[in-house]
Amino acid sequence: MATRTARIDVHLTAADARADLRADVLLGLTSQPKQLPPKYFYDARGSVLFEEITALPEYFPTRTEAALLTAHVDEIARLTGATTLVELGSGSSAKTRLLLDALTRGGTLRRYVPLDVSETALREALDALAVRYPALALHGVVGDFAAHLDRLPRDDGSVPGPADRRLVAFLGGTIGNLEPGQRAVFLRGLRGALRPGEHLLLGAGLVTDPQVLVAAYDDAAGVTAEFNRNVLHVLNRELHADLDVAAFAHVARWDAEREWIEMRLRAERSMAATVNDLGLVVEFAAGEEVRTEISAKFRTAGLAVELADAGLAPQRTWVDPLERFALVLAEAV
Ligand code: SAH
Ligand code: TRP
Repeated sequence: MATRTARIDVHLTAADARADLRADVLLGLTSQPKQLPPKYFYDARGSVLFEEITALPEYFPTRTEAALLTAHVDEIARLTGATTLVELGSGSSAKTRLLLDALTRGGTLRRYVPLDVSETALREALDALAVRYPALALHGVVGDFAAHLDRLPRDDGSVPGPADRRLVAFLGGTIGNLEPGQRAVFLRGLRGALRPGEHLLLGAGLVTDPQVLVAAYDDAAGVTAEFNRNVLHVLNRELHADLDVAAFAHVARWDAEREWIEMRLRAERSMAATVNDLGLVVEFAAGEEVRTEISAKFRTAGLAVELADAGLAPQRTWVDPLERFALVLAEAV
């Protein structure tokens, strides 16, 4: 069988990614408290570890979201009539197949546009999709959803048919990885990239039992701990740093006031590390914690307000029976 190669636009070249990494690490490791942005978890190994997380018994979001999608994709296809499915932070695009199948059954879908910072995850996902969906136009974008929403491919004439009706999927609760201020900017930017009548399908984790949440981000097998520490391997490799990865412990804490899970790496002893490419020596006190990620959890009412404030009017909200995860379909107005 002939293999098809999907078109891939690279808006984040290796050089761009490196410049971002240098600036973010310099700022983050000289700040108090120290912090590192979450997008650097996802090198090839990080993307594989994240896929392992999605299958862990404690990590309920992926299964819960997949069940919601299974139950409601045909209604989503009917309400959106999407010709193009855009997906932000698409990763392996595994759950996306539910949407691709429903939009294909609905007869409207022509094109899938996954966008991810992880070029390896994106290429692997597209290779598998090209085999499974031979009639679908595939157009990958290597990019940062916080910076490149204005570069999503528009009607470029490469696919014949009526005007594009886009559905943007942002799944997995990844919206919770943005700080509240960044989130508002992101949603407004996303609204700006859409035309009235186009849609957003948002998957968001809900506020629930803190024990259940903490377990989801601190599994017994230690996969999440490996995933969290992976960012240190990325720094060692990309910036010629000499961080002692094994000397950092994974910490996942529920912040009841801000309603988010906070992931940190705790230095188990005092140490100094050199980041050669930045000419930087970083000192860690014993017990010092580096913030690596937040995963905010939402209440459906608050989520609806945030979306509406950005010009994305919620049309349907589906919640699982245990009320741990929500799917919201919103229309650009
Ligand atoms: N959507 C998938 C993957 C979620 S994990 C799911 O629901 O299972 C988060 C994904 O977003 C990863 O694939 C990661 O590479 C990507 N990602 C993280 N930060 C990003 C950013 N700033 N821009 C684009 N993609 C990003
Ligand atoms: N978007 C996912 C979430 O917040 C990413 C994620 C899952 C994650 N487990 C993690 C990020 C552990 C850092 C560490 O649910």
